[in-house]
Amino acid sequence: MAAKTKTLDDLFVDTLKDIYFAEKQVLKALPKMAKAANSNELRAAFEKHRDQTEAQIERLEGVFENMGIAARGKTCDAIIGILEEGKSIMEDYEDSSALDAGLVSAAQAVEHYEITRYGTLITWAKTMGNSDVVNLLKQNLAEEEQTDVDLSKLAQASINKAALAKSS
Ligand SMILES: [Fe+2]
Ligand SMILES: [Fe+2]
Repeated sequence: MAAKTKTLDDLFVDTLKDIYFAEKQVLKALPKMAKAANSNELRAAFEKHRDQTEAQIERLEGVFENMGIAARGKTCDAIIGILEEGKSIMEDYEDSSALDAGLVSAAQAVEHYEITRYGTLITWAKTMGNSDVVNLLKQNLAEEEQTDVDLSKLAQASINKAALAKSS
């Protein structure tokens, strides 16, 4: 006979472990991005989101607890790749006027990855009928969406224009 059929619960827990791993990687990457940023506003945005990420990790631990399982990450190759690309931008555009525009693009790739994960997890938690978990995950999703909007505003207001200028 085939092995026990996996269910939505299994998918949910695997994906929860994926985003838990991802958030921990993002927590380590954001201070490096803040340090690299030329714009004070961009640096402040990264620092703010670092603090939010810390709280997001705690909410995820609340989700694990709610489900009665140990909080454990599972290697997420997607976030490793996205953060690797961000690292390449920091190296390739170091000392260039386009660095901040590149940092915003790298950060928005992270936000969009997080948004897709939280969107899926919330939909599944609703199906599973777990409203406490839905509420925790919705708080994380709202922060990712707001960060994405804030980064777009920053890029459009100043950072992209600054990137047009040639560095001397
Ligand atoms: Fe996050
Ligand atoms: Fe985020």
